[in-house]
Amino acid sequence: MRILVTGGTGFIGSHTCVALLEAGHSVIIVDNLSNSKREVVSYIEQITGQTVLFYELDVTDAVAVEAIFVKHDIDGVVHFAGLKAVGESVEKPLIYYKNNLLSTMVVAEACIKYGVERFVFSSSATVYGNNLVPFEESMPLLPTTNPYGETKAMNERILTDIVKANPNLAVSLLRYFNPVGAHESCLIGEVPNGIPNNLMPYMTKVAKGEFAQLRVFGDDYPTVDGTGVRDYIHVVDLAEGHVAALEKLTAGVHVYNLGTGCGTSVLELVKAFEEANAIQVPYEIVARRPGDIASCYADSTKAKKELGWVAKRDIVAMCRDSWKFEKEYID
Ligand code: NAD
Ligand code: UFG
Repeated sequence: MRILVTGGTGFIGSHTCVALLEAGHSVIIVDNLSNSKREVVSYIEQITGQTVLFYELDVTDAVAVEAIFVKHDIDGVVHFAGLKAVGESVEKPLIYYKNNLLSTMVVAEACIKYGVERFVFSSSATVYGNNLVPFEESMPLLPTTNPYGETKAMNERILTDIVKANPNLAVSLLRYFNPVGAHESCLIGEVPNGIPNNLMPYMTKVAKGEFAQLRVFGDDYPTVDGTGVRDYIHVVDLAEGHVAALEKLTAGVHVYNLGTGCGTSVLELVKAFEEANAIQVPYEIVARRPGDIASCYADSTKAKKELGWVAKRDIVAMCRDSWKFEKEYID
């Protein structure tokens, strides 16, 4: 298949492009480079030995997006393009609602107009709100604590309504848990802008000596050791989940959790990182971070049963590859 990948130079998009190419598909990337670099295209080509078409454009620009659908015979879309910083979304809600909702509407509209029936959307476990873990796809969407999370829930509803009106469309809503790690080549990985918000990229910078210590946000949650529990997933596994979802798509809306099904606490992750890499991570316990929930992990049986996909890489591989990328990646 020829797949249009929006946001394809980003963290998850770039790994998914590699997985798609390795599975025999061809890839066209569109990205406005607001949170990624053009060089990623050549890194994807270097890893796979294949050519990738790239267009620098904003997917909220309907005219620019339509021109891509006119020029290329597209079989499916994987829509990653979006803004994702939770804190920033609280400060700049309008920018988040505009970018994250309009981009989906523009791309979906072009799909309908040009008869492209396969559409895979990057959603998030955040749409489960404070449902009880493990999260199952059948659970109701609950309010999230920030505009970023709301855009994911709204996009899911928009796409569901579009499918009701266009029953030939085949849409997969993929709810990601906490992606970490990087491609083994260290050519692609997560390169956060400024100070990282997320645990793993912050921890690798502490290990490198860029920050003195990790701040562990709260040790009084009702979890195994009081620290927050999350379902960390290797980004290469996550990328492979997209290929499975795309290849298995049938008409209608399908929702899948892409997680490992295992919860790991902050302190368990620190310990695993120290052991996997034989390096110390100094930390201090500080107050809870506003908006955080105690536990977030997937029931991943639906993806296994229907897509034949399971995450294969364990927490040791995630810690090892995250650290290797931090040490070897040249910005
Ligand atoms: P990323 O920022 O690395 O990638 C997103 C890409 O989209 C970037 O390259 C950015 O330049 C591009 N982009 C943003 N707005 C655009 C626009 N209007 N037009 C064209 N390009 C645009 O983020 P990521 O971690 O790879 O996440 C990809 C998707 O997965 C996002 O939708 C994100 O919300 C979702 N997601 C990520 C996580 C996570 O923890 N990383 C978790 C759940 C869901
Ligand atoms: N944490 C720390 N110290 C840090 C950073 C994080 O203790 O410096 C803790 C958090 O309190 C939480 C855990 O580590 O308990 C994971 O936090 P992250 O910021 O890495 O990830 P979140 O689970 O908060 O959020 C991530 C993405 C969201 C997405 C969500 C889906 O950033 O975009 O997963 O589950 F919506």
